[in-house]
Amino acid sequence: MAKKIVAGNWKMNLNADSALTLIKGISEVSLPSDVRVIVFPSSVFIGQVVEASSGIEVGCQNFSNEDKGAFTGEISINQIKSIGANVGLIGHSERRAYYKEDNALLKTKVDQAIKENFDFIFCCGEPLFIREEGKEFSFVREQLNESLFHLTSDQMKNRVIAYEPVWAIGTGKTASSIQAEDMHLSIRSWITEKYSAEIASSVSILYGGSCKPSNAKELFACPNVDGGLIGGAALDVDDFSQLIKSF
Ligand code: PGA
Repeated sequence: MAKKIVAGNWKMNLNADSALTLIKGISEVSLPSDVRVIVFPSSVFIGQVVEASSGIEVGCQNFSNEDKGAFTGEISINQIKSIGANVGLIGHSERRAYYKEDNALLKTKVDQAIKENFDFIFCCGEPLFIREEGKEFSFVREQLNESLFHLTSDQMKNRVIAYEPVWAIGTGKTASSIQAEDMHLSIRSWITEKYSAEIASSVSILYGGSCKPSNAKELFACPNVDGGLIGGAALDVDDFSQLIKSF
């Protein structure tokens, strides 16, 4: 069965002090044992967040597709592991849009993570104009085909995918539970087609895009929604803990 996950993407917010206050606050909340909770702070204070956290995994928002060397400004998986993070985001829509990370590049990050035995959440999702053209399913399928679906069955087992419609991220506009479930069900059926029903049921498919305590219960109740990747609402202890308890 797919693991339930609530992940907080802190993006380029907070500083070392406020990040520590936030992680300490979340660590004090009594969290359900069947939910995997992950936070993604800015890389500069991952180490401090790891030390201050309890029962919460810490990940990185981005990482290099290279091992090491002359890549100014980049951070390798090995470096990230050395400060205690065990999981990374790949293909967040902000990386795709602002830093021109395309499907081919993201495939190399997937391969790097597999090579380094590093867990990851693979993000996908369509921009508004694609949905308006009614092409969201083929668009998301292409993102998965070109960056993720080359993995073997063994490598695909227990992977985590986050569906984040770009028009819902940070806009306050959430996909309805019907829109979310439709896409999640499609993603799971593509995995069944390509791999098997067993692999498909092991993959956690998270929803992201203005997910907050007021809509999480309905979204998380959808049969194919295994949790959320949360932006804005992950910056508040109360909101984030309510989200973790929304299953
Ligand atoms: P949001 O961000 O919850 O602020 O919409 C989600 C995300 O980008 O992961």
